[in-house]
Amino acid sequence: MIAVPASAGGPALPAPRGGTTASAESVWARRPARLTVIGTGYLGATQAACLAELGFDVLGVDTDATRIGALASGQLPFHEPGLEPLLRRGLATGRLRFTSSYEQAAAFGEVHFVCVGTPQHAGGDGADLSQLTSCIAALAPLLRSPCLVVGKSTVPAGTASVLAGDLPRLAPAGNGVELAWNPEFLREGCAVQDTLRPDRIVVGVQSLRASELLRQIYSGPLAAGTPFIVTDLTTAELAKVAANSFLATKISFINAMAEVCEAVGGDVIHLSRILSADPRIGPASLWPGLGFGGACLPKDIRAFMARAHDLGMGETLRFLREIDAINLRCRTRMIELARELMNGSLAGRSVGVLGVAFKPNSDDIRDSPALGVAKAIHDLGARVTVYDPVAMDRARQACPELQYADSALGAARDADLMLLLTEWPEFCDADPEVLGRAVAQRNIADGRNALDPDLWRGNGWRYRALGRPAIHPLRRGDAAARRLRLRLGRPAALPGSPAGRTA
Ligand code: UDX
Repeated sequence: MIAVPASAGGPALPAPRGGTTASAESVWARRPARLTVIGTGYLGATQAACLAELGFDVLGVDTDATRIGALASGQLPFHEPGLEPLLRRGLATGRLRFTSSYEQAAAFGEVHFVCVGTPQHAGGDGADLSQLTSCIAALAPLLRSPCLVVGKSTVPAGTASVLAGDLPRLAPAGNGVELAWNPEFLREGCAVQDTLRPDRIVVGVQSLRASELLRQIYSGPLAAGTPFIVTDLTTAELAKVAANSFLATKISFINAMAEVCEAVGGDVIHLSRILSADPRIGPASLWPGLGFGGACLPKDIRAFMARAHDLGMGETLRFLREIDAINLRCRTRMIELARELMNGSLAGRSVGVLGVAFKPNSDDIRDSPALGVAKAIHDLGARVTVYDPVAMDRARQACPELQYADSALGAARDADLMLLLTEWPEFCDADPEVLGRAVAQRNIADGRNALDPDLWRGNGWRYRALGRPAIHPLRRGDAAARRLRLRLGRPAALPGSPAGRTA
């Protein structure tokens, strides 16, 4: 652990109320005032800034001194809309500070939120819990006052019960230290809203006093009507992986339907609209395209399968293997579509790529379908030029072999083929005529079903998308089709589709 002086995180920390440590009963008897957030990645930085916004004194803790230095000076080390103003406001009011010192954290906090990463294990599908175990091993021996430790990281079911036993054993405060689990459900790109106004707050606890403490911390969102669900530690752990498995299943289901549409000549966008209209199904996570990526869904379903296997229940979650496979197949199908548009070979072709982040409003390229496709197309011999509004630096670092342009128009210059891989609004709103003047040939493969095919085709583009016919059956020109098309009218935008687009 690297200890940085308090000056790196702003002014020296105020002494805890009642002397150097909180009194034995105080933490359970009143609204806690001083919180720490350990781990300041996407989750932790958002949690820390939002808790400060809710009026608490918050100390953000991370072993990465560079990250702490950046946060302490008001710089977010990643792109998240609306978070930087909150960070700066927290720093300006003095309610939010940062440190690399676990000693400071232990002395300061009445409640400690643990938000460290639990990535996929390098050697397999399971979760790598080394950051979590190191955090508890460093923190617990320093806990001399009663406090609540709240896990927020995504973990395999059963992890919390083990930690719940370790904490009082390792902590000088003994049974005064208790563990709770409070999974996060925040989406990158709307992390602030998802933290301040979540759909639900789930707390897995071992005692009423712990749930009451958490109820007080979240009194702001609760007053606004957020449901507060109190459960046991294991169910709270499961809540996160079960939710992400369900979302992944919905996305892969519609992408499997896209494959079927391709085989039989259907239109997956129409199908998605039809399914979404059923309130039992709903439109969320039912948008077909290049599939899911990022730091959560892929690794969470794999870790869930690995855990089930360890429990001798591999069969029960075997369907998730198929969900993963369908998802990865979206990338292969996209590469095939690109090859088809280039008459069978990408070698020597110039390909412009719009978007490399795993989704819009994020600079996260972890397990990004977009970057995976761009790289694969480069490996097939194409000259790939990429543009993304915010993920360029990360992409350049991860894939120096690609070319990088400074605008969408730059990526389009002299391209034989354009690929839309992340549905940033500026790409969805691109003018096909303007882009058409920059390219060598008007070919576009829309990996996110984000563009209006009629508009692009009307401007002379050969437009293709996953799960949609090359030429719409209702536009092939026979009289019956024309009559049917008149009856159906122009399709309306699907709720949940990329902002304001028609399909
Ligand atoms: C997800 C969960 O939504 C969140 O609750 C959890 O806590 C963390 O994981 P996030 O990874 O930020 O959040 O992204 P999400 O918006 O769920 O999208 C995940 C991926 O699925 C993206 O790559 C997105 O492009 C893709 N997606 C999403 C689709 O392909 N179709 C859809 O209809 C929705």
